[in-house]
Amino acid sequence: MKKLIRIFLVLGFGLIYLFIYSWITNTNIRILIRHASKFSIGTEEVKPACKKGVEYKVPCIVHYIWFSRNGKEKMQFHHALSIISAYKFINPDKIHYHYDVLPLGKWWDYILKNIPNIVLIKTDRPKQVFGVPLRQIAHQSDIKRFEIMRKTGGIYLDNDRLPGAVGNGIIVSVKNATILNIWWDTYRNFTSNEWAYHACVIPAKLAKMYPDLIHVEIGTMNYPPWTSDGLRLLYDSVCDWSKNYCVHMWYRLRPYNYNPENIKTMNTTFGQMARYVFYGSKDIKN
Ligand SMILES: *[C@@H]1O[C@H](CO)[C@@H](O)[C@H](O)[C@H]1NC(C)=O
Ligand SMILES: *[C@@H]1O[C@H](CO)[C@@H](O)[C@H](O)[C@H]1NC(C)=O
Ligand SMILES: *[C@@H]1O[C@H](CO)[C@@H](O)[C@H](O)[C@H]1NC(C)=O
Repeated sequence: MKKLIRIFLVLGFGLIYLFIYSWITNTNIRILIRHASKFSIGTEEVKPACKKGVEYKVPCIVHYIWFSRNGKEKMQFHHALSIISAYKFINPDKIHYHYDVLPLGKWWDYILKNIPNIVLIKTDRPKQVFGVPLRQIAHQSDIKRFEIMRKTGGIYLDNDRLPGAVGNGIIVSVKNATILNIWWDTYRNFTSNEWAYHACVIPAKLAKMYPDLIHVEIGTMNYPPWTSDGLRLLYDSVCDWSKNYCVHMWYRLRPYNYNPENIKTMNTTFGQMARYVFYGSKDIKN
C-alpha cells in the first residue's frame, strides 16, 4: 500500500503510470487485485486504493471500454470478475463504462445490480486517427483510451498486447498528462496494418526517452506472463501472487467457461484469485 500511495503522489507531478509490461490480451479481462505492501493473502485487511478523504491528482475513476464485435455479445463471468475486483479493491468513486453496444446476459445484469457506481457512457468507435482509418477493434480501443485519459484521467483497465514492449492495458494518469500528448503525437505515422507498434513499442521507447514523465511497472501486473510456463503457473499450479497489483488472465490463450461453482475447487493460482475476488477468500470452498 505504501508503494501505491507513493505512486499516486508522484503522479501529482503530471506523470502517467503505465502499469504493465506485457503482450497480447483480450479486452476487459483483468482482475485487479491490490495489496498492501506487507499484505499476506486472505488474512490482513486490504485498504482501498482510492481512500475517501485523501486527495489524489489522479481522479479515482476506473474506465472500461466495451466495443461489441457483433452487437449481441454476452458478458461472461471472467469479465464480470474484473469489474467486481476493480469495485472492491480499487474502491473508485465511479466506474465509467464506455460502450458502443451494451453487453447482454446474466453477468451484465449482475453488474448493473451489484455495482452501484457504474456509469454507462455511450460512445462511438473512433473511425480514424490523423486521417488513417481504424479497422481493428483493438486499434479503435487504443484511440478511445487516449480520448478518455486526455480528457478525464483516472485508471484505465483494458486490453493491451504485443512484444518488445510496454502494454497499454493499464494506464494510470492525470488528465492531459504531458506524456499522453507526446505519445498521441506519434500516431501521426500510424498505419492500419500494424499490430501494436504505437500501442506498445512506442511507449517503451518513450519510457526510455522521458523517464521523468512515465513509470513502467514491471513484474507486479502481468505476472505470471503469457509464456507457456506462465500459463502453467496461472492455470495448472499455485504461485505466490502476494506482490501483484493485478493479474492478466491471458484469457484468449486459455479460454474456459468459468462460473461461481467451478472456481470453488480450482486448486490453481487463478482459482485462488477468482475466489478472492468473488467470495472474499482464496481458500478452496467445499
Ligand atoms: C493539455 O496540455 C497541453 C500542454 O501539454 C495544453 O496545451 C492543452 O491546452 C491542455 N488541454 C487541456 C484540455 O487541458
Ligand atoms: C514513427 O514516428 C516515431 C517517432 O514519432 C518513430 O520512432 C518511428 O520510427 C516512426 N515509425 C515509422 C514507421 O515511421
Ligand atoms: C493444491 O495443490 C498444492 C500443490 O500445488 C498442494 O500442495 C495442495 O495440497 C493442494 N490442495 C488441495 C486442497 O488439494
